[in-house]
Amino acid sequence: MREKLTIHGGTPLKGTLEISGAKNSALPLLASSLLTEQRVHLTNVPDLKDVETMLSMVGELGKSTSGEAGEVSIAGKIDSNHAPADLVKKMRASFLVLAPLVARTGKAEVPIPGGCNIGTRPVDLHLKGLERLGVNIAQEDGKIVARADGLSGNDVFLNYPSVGATEQLIMAATMAKGETAIYNAAQEPEIRDLVNFLNQMGAEIRINGSIIRINGVEELDRTEYRVMSDRIAAGTYLIAGAATAGSVTVTGVDTSAVKPLSLKLKNAGITVREKDNSIKVASSERPENIEVITLPYPGFPTDLQAPITALLTLARGKSVVKETVFDSRFDHVPELNKMGADISMTNSNTLFVEGKTSLRGTEVEATDIRAGAALVIEGLAAEGKTTITGVKHLDRGYSNLVTNLRNLGAQLERHK
Ligand code: EPZ
Repeated sequence: MREKLTIHGGTPLKGTLEISGAKNSALPLLASSLLTEQRVHLTNVPDLKDVETMLSMVGELGKSTSGEAGEVSIAGKIDSNHAPADLVKKMRASFLVLAPLVARTGKAEVPIPGGCNIGTRPVDLHLKGLERLGVNIAQEDGKIVARADGLSGNDVFLNYPSVGATEQLIMAATMAKGETAIYNAAQEPEIRDLVNFLNQMGAEIRINGSIIRINGVEELDRTEYRVMSDRIAAGTYLIAGAATAGSVTVTGVDTSAVKPLSLKLKNAGITVREKDNSIKVASSERPENIEVITLPYPGFPTDLQAPITALLTLARGKSVVKETVFDSRFDHVPELNKMGADISMTNSNTLFVEGKTSLRGTEVEATDIRAGAALVIEGLAAEGKTTITGVKHLDRGYSNLVTNLRNLGAQLERHK
C-alpha cells in the first residue's frame, strides 16, 4: 500500500531549522570514494534513500561501507566493474561510477540511465568528454562499455555546463596522466565541494570560473570530509515559510549558495535576512508577482522551479516561470491546478501563473522529488486537507521532512 502525506493547511510556519547535508554533493562524493582503496570518512551525510542507493552501489563494486547518524566510512578494493542495472535504473546519479571504474580498473560496464519525469536526460556530454581523455566507449544492449589502458589529460569543451558531466570528468582527469582543462564547466556549489574533497585526498584541481584545470595524480589518500549543506532543501523550507505567511530561519547554510533564491524572494517583496550561516524569511502577506528563469548556477536553480511556482500561485498578479535546464519539468502544474491554482503552460517551456487569494486542499500525486516539494508547500498554504501520494519521491530528496515541518508548526501526518 503506498504511503500518503496528509496536510491540514493554513498555519503560518514559524521557527528555526538546521539544514542537513546536500544530496547533490553526497552522491558524487560517495561515487568518488571509488578513486582510492584508502578509507574515506564523510560526515553531515543526509539520511536519504538516494544516499542508501549510492552506498549499495559502491558496496556492490567491492567497497566496505559502515556508518550511522550522518557519518559514513568507505574503504577497500574495487572487485567488480559491472554497475548493477537495478541501482542505475533507480537513480541516475549512479552513472557517476563510470569514470572511477574505468580510471581504476581499465574497464566499466554501466547501464545507460533512463530518462525520468523531468526529461530525456542524455549522457552524451559525459561520454564525449571521457573519449577526449582516452576512454573507448561502446554501447552494448543498453549498457555503456568503457575501456582504457590509462587515461591521458586533454582539453575538454562542454557544449552545456552539465553538473554530472563536469563531475564525471573531474573524477576521470584526477587519475589521468598530464593536465586536463574543462571549459564551460558547471559552477554549482556541489562542484566546489567535490573539488575540495578530492584536493584534500591529494588531487591537484583548480577552479577558475567555468574553467577547471586538473593535474592528474597516481594515487589519492585517505581523508575525512564534511558534506556541504543542502542549498535546495534550505530553499524549499524558506519558500514554505513565505507561502504560509510565516517566519522561518534555516541555519547551517552557505548564504552565497542560496543567493539566487534569496534575491528572488526579495524581488517578490518578502523580507529576507542573512547572517553568518543562517537565512530568515518573513512574510505577512501575499508575495508580489515576479519572473523566474532557471539557469545553470549562479542562475536560479531548476530544482527550486517547482517550489517557487507553488509560492507564485498565491502572488498578487501574473508571474512568468521559464524552465531552460530540463526539457520537461512541469509535472507539478496539473496537480497544483487541482488545488485551485491558475497556471497555464505555453507550448515551449514557460508558465504563466495567475496569483489567487486562496487555494483549497485535495488529493494530489507527487511525480518527482521537487514536484513533490511543490505539492507539500501548496498543501501547507491551502485551506483544508491535502493528501499527497508518491511520498517515496520525497524520501529521495528530503530527510526528516514531516518532523522538520511539524517543528515549524505544520499540521501533517504520514500514513498508509
Ligand atoms: C544534477 O543533475 C542534479 N542531480 C539535479 O538535481 C539538478 O537538477 C541538475 O544537476 C541541474 O542542476 C544531482 O546532482 C544528483 P545536468 P544532472 O547534467 O547532473 C542535459 C534533484 O532534484 N544533459 O546538469 O543530471 C540534461 O538533459 C536533481 O536533486 C545533456 O544533454 O544535470 C539537462 O537538460 C534533479 N547531456 C541539462 O543538461 C549530458 O550528457 C542539465 O543536466 C548531460 C546533461
